Amino acid sequence: LPSRRLSGRHVIVTSGPTHEPIDPVRYIANRSSGAQGTAIAAALRDLGARVSFVTGPAEVPPPEGVEVIAVETARAMRDAVEAALPADAAVMAAAVADWHVANARAGKIKKDGSGRLPELQFAENPDILAWISQLGRDRPSLVVGFAAETDDVLENATRKRKRKGCDWIVANDVSPATGIMGGTENAVTLISEAGAESWPRLSKQEVALRLAERIAGALDHAQDG
Ligand code: C5P
Repeated sequence: LPSRRLSGRHVIVTSGPTHEPIDPVRYIANRSSGAQGTAIAAALRDLGARVSFVTGPAEVPPPEGVEVIAVETARAMRDAVEAALPADAAVMAAAVADWHVANARAGKIKKDGSGRLPELQFAENPDILAWISQLGRDRPSLVVGFAAETDDVLENATRKRKRKGCDWIVANDVSPATGIMGGTENAVTLISEAGAESWPRLSKQEVALRLAERIAGALDHAQDG
C-alpha cells in the first residue's frame, strides 16, 4: 500500500538554473541540470503532496502530476514562489543566479567595429531562500535550502543555514571531481539546528525519497506541536 503521508500538504519546490538576459539573444546561466529538484518534486508527489514546481530552464523535463510554473530569471522565480504561497513546506533546490545584468539591452548588442567592448553591469538578485525563511505569517513551517559548495562544505553550509534562516540545509560538494553537478548521484549532508547528518552516496532519486520522508516526518511534528 503506497504511503500518502503528505496528502493535504502543499509544498513549493524551486529547481533548475535561472537565465539572466544580457540582450534578447544572450544570457548568463549556470550548470544546474534540475535533476535533484525534479526528483524531489516527484518524491513529494508520490507521498501525496500537492507540489508547486517553480523551475528555471532545466535540462531534465519536469515530473508529471505537479503544477509546473516555468520561469527564466531569479526575479520571476521569486514572484512565482510568492504567488504559490501559502505552503506547508518549501524546498529551494534551484541554482539561482546571484546577479542579473542591470544594463540588459532591449535590442541585440552589435559589434560596432570600433573595437570597444560592451560592459555589463550587475545587480544583486533577490535571495529567495532568505526571503521565504524570514517571512512572517506566510512562512512555510519547514524551509529547506541547498548549499552547493566546493570548499569547507560543512562549515560553509552551517553558516549558510543560520544566515538565511532556513530550517534545514542539504549540503553537497560540487567540486568537478565529484561528478555531482549534472550527474546522477549525490552525496549530501543534512544540516539542521540539531546537527549534521551525512548520507551515503546515493542516486538523486534516493536522496529525494529520503528527503521527502524526512519532510513528512517534520510536518507531522509541526502539526503535533
Ligand atoms: O547563497 P547560495 O546560493 O549559496 O545558497 C544556496 C541556497 O539558496 C539554495 O537553496 C538556493 O536555491 C537558494 N537561493 C535562493 N535565491 C538566491 C540564491 C540562492 O533561493 N538568490
